Amino acid sequence: MKLCVALDLPSAKENLELAKKIKDFDVWLKVGFRSYIRDGKEFLDALKQINPKFKIFLDLKLYDIPNTMADAAQEISKLGVDMFNVHASAGKVAMTTVMDRLKDMPNRPLVLAVTALTSFDNDNFKAIYAEDIDKKATQFAKDTYEAGLDGVVSSAFESFDIKQNTSSDFVTLTPGIRPFGEDAGDQKRVADIALAKKELVDFIVVGRPIYKSTNPAEIVEKILKTL
Ligand code: C5P
Repeated sequence: MKLCVALDLPSAKENLELAKKIKDFDVWLKVGFRSYIRDGKEFLDALKQINPKFKIFLDLKLYDIPNTMADAAQEISKLGVDMFNVHASAGKVAMTTVMDRLKDMPNRPLVLAVTALTSFDNDNFKAIYAEDIDKKATQFAKDTYEAGLDGVVSSAFESFDIKQNTSSDFVTLTPGIRPFGEDAGDQKRVADIALAKKELVDFIVVGRPIYKSTNPAEIVEKILKTL
């Protein structure tokens, strides 16, 4: 299991300081909307300068018509990031179009699809998708697998079931992790590391429990020891 640290701080300076504090650990860094919209490619390059071995997950969750998604995926792949994602609810055609566009790219990044955001509980999910979260998340995962993507972003609670319905090497990445029972914030379906392990999760994403801590390096070290 790999640890992916969410760089969700309010400024590039603070995110870079956090990256510096954890530069000696074997971790992935997650760059989301906020950072990428504000700080762009320059920020990605600055992270690689801190440690060229940092792996970067660009969490932009693409959702658009197939051709527009494929165009964006192609541009993302040129940025030198190691992983990015789309929404599975954009549909199988869109996901297939994305993968088709990337197929001849050397060293293309891993491509994941979001099944259900971890901030959804069953009621808010059902209000949009008219189905229970577990059932629909598994269906989205199957669509993602059949479209040729590398894996899904899901809650830790769905990981085992998703692998059983697709393949054991189909990647699961799970946000909403509170490693040692920290405050959930706006996340509804939070899990700890023990559950993530049991569910055979490949990547855990941890944001607030690390960046809000007074000693992020210590928390990262503590998490890595338990993986
Ligand atoms: O602070 P916290 O650990 O809750 O951060 C989780 C991170 O994972 C945030 O950057 C959030 O945008 C992201 N994320 C999520 N649920 C998803 C996909 C991404 O929480 N399904």
